[in-house]
Amino acid sequence: EAPLRVGIAGVGTVGASLISMFLNDQERMTQRFGRQIVVTGISARSRSKDRGVDLSEMAWFDDPVALAKSDNIDLFVELMGGEDGPALASIRAALELGKPVVTANKALIAKHGVEIAHLAEQTNTQFGFEAAVAGGIPIIKTLREGLGLAQVQRVYGIMNGTCNYILTRMTNEGINFQDCLKDAQELGYAEADPTFDIEGFDTAHKLAILTSLCFGCKIAADQMYVEGITRIDQADIKVASDLGFDIKLLGVAQRTPDGIEQRVHPTLVPKTSTIAGIDGVLNAVSLETDHVEELLLAGPGAGGDATAASVISDIFDCVRGTHVPPLGLPVAELEPYDKARMREHEGG
Ligand code: HSE
Repeated sequence: EAPLRVGIAGVGTVGASLISMFLNDQERMTQRFGRQIVVTGISARSRSKDRGVDLSEMAWFDDPVALAKSDNIDLFVELMGGEDGPALASIRAALELGKPVVTANKALIAKHGVEIAHLAEQTNTQFGFEAAVAGGIPIIKTLREGLGLAQVQRVYGIMNGTCNYILTRMTNEGINFQDCLKDAQELGYAEADPTFDIEGFDTAHKLAILTSLCFGCKIAADQMYVEGITRIDQADIKVASDLGFDIKLLGVAQRTPDGIEQRVHPTLVPKTSTIAGIDGVLNAVSLETDHVEELLLAGPGAGGDATAASVISDIFDCVRGTHVPPLGLPVAELEPYDKARMREHEGG
């Protein structure tokens, strides 16, 4: 069988890990899924930057849309980021041509997921976004395929590696916020614009995607209450600790009689709880369902290799031809309720 030809737009931390796996693990790749995969084209902002991987065998495209449309690629991987612009244009271009798309772009899915899902369904084309939520944790696969007929009542968890890394080091080592953030950036965990991480928006994007998958409702990241960790200081951590709690940035979505409640904020969790033990760059997502009770998935939430593993898992699915409705939308009788109503619920 001819090799699967992959085009990758965006060669940052995840893109470089992915390319390095394709270059160095060909044998394992072919064994695992019976077909050779080659990266034939790439697109990135800077042509000269040293990314620690050899890009010389791949055709270079200045324009990611041209890469997506190229006759020399069978599958398009979008790792550029950005909720509109070239990321959106190139994903649309690939799907319109019936080429499977794999992306890690949570901001884009949180904004345009429904439109893209419809386009993928119309063109009967695979669309994978496992890497968009909780890095290396196979949470999308679990939600789509792993729960049988169970119905999710509540989903919550730690969904941002950068924030969890910062809070963990502030708690365990007493290091200040800014230094922790700087280290998280150097380790390749943070978004290009780290305000997305620390102000809670990255968690909100991921939670919005999970909400739509868990409850079949429309994506409404802009309708949820979002508070990040920038106002947490050592005094908060100390008081919490004296009372027996750790502070974690949680995203929570649950069914209520009035609709789907979604929120993101720093939360006190008992030190003895499982979620309190999720430290550093780890993420954890808990699914509370009627049949399976509670299922907790934990693992690396950010970082090149872990996230690249999720991208490869989606590529495998595309090659196998496993086709599931991308977001299954819109089916819910319940809608996410908005911030104003949430304040009413909390009485002020
Ligand atoms: N900036 C994100 C995080 C990367 O820290 O979790 C993974 O989405």
